[in-house]
Parts: sequence; structure tokens; C-alpha cells
Amino acid sequence: MNFDLTEEQLMIKQAAKDFARTELLEGVIERDNTATFPAEQIKKLGELGFLGMMTDPKYDGGGMDTVSYVLAMEEISKIDSSVSVVLSVNNSLVCYGLEHYGSEEQKEKYLKPLARGEIIGAFALSEPEAGSDATHQRTTAEDKGDYYLLNGTKNWITSGKNASVYIVFAQTDLSKRHKGINALIVEKGMEGFEIGAKEDKMGMRGSDTTSLMFTDVKIPKANRIGNEGFGFSLAMKTLNGGRIGIAAQALGIAQGALDLALAYSKERKAFGKQIIDHQAIAFKLADMEASIEAARLLVLKAAWLKDEKKDFTHASAIAKLVAAETAMKVTTEAVQIHGGYGYVKEYHVERLMRDAKLTQIYEGTSEIQKIVISRGLLKK
Ligand code: CAA
Repeated sequence: MNFDLTEEQLMIKQAAKDFARTELLEGVIERDNTATFPAEQIKKLGELGFLGMMTDPKYDGGGMDTVSYVLAMEEISKIDSSVSVVLSVNNSLVCYGLEHYGSEEQKEKYLKPLARGEIIGAFALSEPEAGSDATHQRTTAEDKGDYYLLNGTKNWITSGKNASVYIVFAQTDLSKRHKGINALIVEKGMEGFEIGAKEDKMGMRGSDTTSLMFTDVKIPKANRIGNEGFGFSLAMKTLNGGRIGIAAQALGIAQGALDLALAYSKERKAFGKQIIDHQAIAFKLADMEASIEAARLLVLKAAWLKDEKKDFTHASAIAKLVAAETAMKVTTEAVQIHGGYGYVKEYHVERLMRDAKLTQIYEGTSEIQKIVISRGLLKK
């Protein structure tokens, strides 16, 4: 078993690390305070090819592997997860969904500008009453011959306001349950499509999470991704990969918190010595390091399985579950190590702790990952 990264993977990791230090660090506290969308930063990342990293160069993407993607996600998330969440949704949900299941016309029209980072995309599955219970879609796409009539509301949509293209899931034939769900490409500006106000979130405050409202929006049949009724399957297959990205994000948040806690422990003195020389602190740091390393191996394994075109459903759910729980635990300890300083914004760890919480909730809560894992066990 070879745990070495390739030259190219190391280069991408370094490029993401440099970008995070030079372009994201300054202003991250301000953007969090004011809940400002990192538009300029996302534009630059797009120009550098980070928004369509894994998309085939044939469709203007970077053609990189999933391992490179998780390395980049980790580095960016150490500093600013409001940026990495946009990256994650665009790469692993929107570009992936279009590239693997879209028509050539859809790839030409939507995937290319998304992969070039000229526009960003959103993935609209969750609803006010269908979050975890995703098969029970209430948004409807009535078949009207050569178009669908879309009606309903979506909730908690990442990049809801700043996206230009949305993959929206809607029920066409209720009698077929989840097999009656379609995935439709919706463009911003279509008549009857409205975007709700940005949610005032606990963490990842820069990213814009909104609701989407559809009233009699006419969606051409050419905008359906895959065959009639393929929508739910598309959502699940796409989310399996998305969860690897969020696991990498959680890993980055945890590593960022450990880096800060370690630096602080070496500087801060108490009872006549650096606090790292107190076993109470040293053992905390050791636990943090051990859990992060375990989570990293799971994230890399899931990414590697995907790159090897092996089944990664089970591995991605395990990686997301463990990395998200690790992020919450590690960031909480990082705040504790910082004492009172940890509780103020200037020291960054309180933001990381707030951001970590979201990784246990979106793209499937920790409980959803346990459903996926336990169902996987039944199949074994
Ligand atoms: N991969 C592939 N297929 C899957 C799957 C997976 N992980 N999970 C379920 N399926 C398939 C099943 O095989 C089944 O297909 P068949 O009927 O062909 O056999 C079908 O989906 C229905 O599955 P179930 O009968 O198991 O459905 P269920 O209702 O009991 O449970 C669930 C399904 C796993 C709970 C699913 O609803 C789920 O994953 N829910 C969470 C949804 C989620 O992650 N939402 C986050 C939204 S994205 C987001 O956060 C927005 C953002 O902007 C970041």
C-alpha cells in the first residue's frame, strides 16, 4: 500500500495552501462578521481552475483526481469554509452531476462555464419538510408535453443567491414515489423563479444559503438530466461524492484548529512554563492529532476508491461521519486550550467551531451517514 502523494497532488495541495494564506486569511473574520459572500475570492479560484477541478478538460475542467480535490478542500477549509463550501457544491454536486449524467447539449451550455468558474451552480434537493427524508419531495414538475411546470419551495440551498444554474429535484409522478422524481436544470431569471433572503447562519456565514421559490416555472424537457424518473438516483449518486468533499472540509477545519491550538500552546505560559508542557494540554493535542490522522486516512481512502472507480458509497459515508464528528470535537478542544481567547473572534478558533457544526448537518446529517453505513452493513 502506497501512502505517498504524487508530484501533481502535492503541487495542487501547495497551490491551495498558498491561496488560502495569501487571499483568504486577511478579511476572513470581517467576512464572517458581516456575512459577506466571498465573490472576489471565488472568482480568482475559478480563474485558477479550482471550481471545475475534477471535470474532464474536454468540458473545460482541470481533469484532476478526487485525491487532489480533497487535498485542496482541506487546505482552503483550514482558513475559510465559506469559500470551500462553494467549491465543494460546484465541483462535486453540480459539475459532477452534469458531466456524468447530462446530455452533450447540457454539458456544452452549462457544464463548460461552470467548470471554467465563470458561473457557479447550486444543488436544490432539500425542502422545508423534506431534508433528511429526501424521497418525499413536495416540489412538483408537472409534465406538459415539451416542458415541465415547476412549483414548490426549496430550502437551505448553498449559493442560492449567487448561483446562475440550479439542479432542482421535483416530483413528476407521485405514484412512483422516488422513481417519479426528476432532476431539472433551472436558470436564474426564469419567469416565476424567486430567491429568498440569505439565512443568518451560525457558521459558514459568508456562503449564501437561501430558499428558492418556483411558481409555474416552465422548464424545457431538454433541461431534464437523465431519463424520466432518474432524479432521485442522480441525487444519491452525486451526494455520495459530495460527502467526500464535505468530509475533506471537516478535516481542514479540524486541522486548522489544531494548528492554531498548537501554536498557542507553545506561546502561552501558565504556572511557570509553556502550556504545552502541561500534560493536561499535551494530551488534548495528542488526542486531536490522532483523531485528525484517522479521519484523514478515511477521507483519502474514499477519494481513492472513487478515483479507482470502485464503490465508494460506504466509504464516503464513514469518512463524512468521522471527519465531521472529529471537526466538532477538535474545534471544541481548540477553544478550550485557548481559554478566554478562544471565545473571542480574533483568535479564529470560535469561528472554526461554529463552521464545524455545519459539517455534521449538511449533505446528510451524521445520522443519515449512519443510515447509509448500517444499510451497507446489511448488504455485506
Ligand atoms: N447511493 C445510491 N443510491 C442510494 C443511496 C446512496 N447513498 N441511498 C439510497 N439510495 C437509493 C436506494 O438504493 C433506493 O433505490 P431503489 O429504489 O432503486 O432500490 C432509493 O435510493 C431509495 O432509497 P431508500 O428506499 O433507502 O430511501 P429512504 O427514504 O429509506 O432513505 C436516504 C434514503 C438514504 C435517507 C436518503 O433520503 C438520503 O440520503 N437523505 C439525505 C439527503 C441529503 O443528504 N440531503 C442533503 C441535501 S444537499 C445539501 O446539503 C445542500 C447543499 O447545498 C450543500
